[in-house]
Amino acid sequence: MAISVSLAVNGKQVEGEVSPNTLLVEYLREHARLTGTHIGCDTSQCGACVVHVNGQSIKSCTMLAVQANGTVITTIEGLADGDTLHAVQAAFKECHGLQCGFCTAGMVMSTADLLNKNPNPSDEEIRNWLEGNICRCTGYQNIVKAVRHAAAQLRG
Ligand code: FES
Ligand code: FES
Repeated sequence: MAISVSLAVNGKQVEGEVSPNTLLVEYLREHARLTGTHIGCDTSQCGACVVHVNGQSIKSCTMLAVQANGTVITTIEGLADGDTLHAVQAAFKECHGLQCGFCTAGMVMSTADLLNKNPNPSDEEIRNWLEGNICRCTGYQNIVKAVRHAAAQLRG
């Protein structure tokens, strides 16, 4: 049985028919063709699939596409303003907060949500918030540095 799903993704309406068990992350990658959102584990562990649903960061492998029907979604592709990187993206670049980049979209989306909620997080708050985002390369030091840098930039 196919079910219609309509989502506002990065400012554009994306509509399609999905089976009831299609995950939001599959819908975004395979139907909307937005492959910046990664699948690292498919079991809610790694955070590579984090997107914003109605402004909240969510692991998109934990939600069905049909549950997201009618929501407003931002993926990593929608974060920059044209050619201008979002402050969090720029900070990850400047502070070398990535190596292979596989975890980065999820890290950036989680961080953007953190800084919306808490513009001046302590290192402990940053590490706690990013606990659900796993990086296999960086050792996290530069990621924390990048989050601090982005926070300072956003505070002005
Ligand atoms: S793919 Fe969603 S948490 Fe790993
Ligand atoms: S940069 Fe490679 S997994 Fe995080």
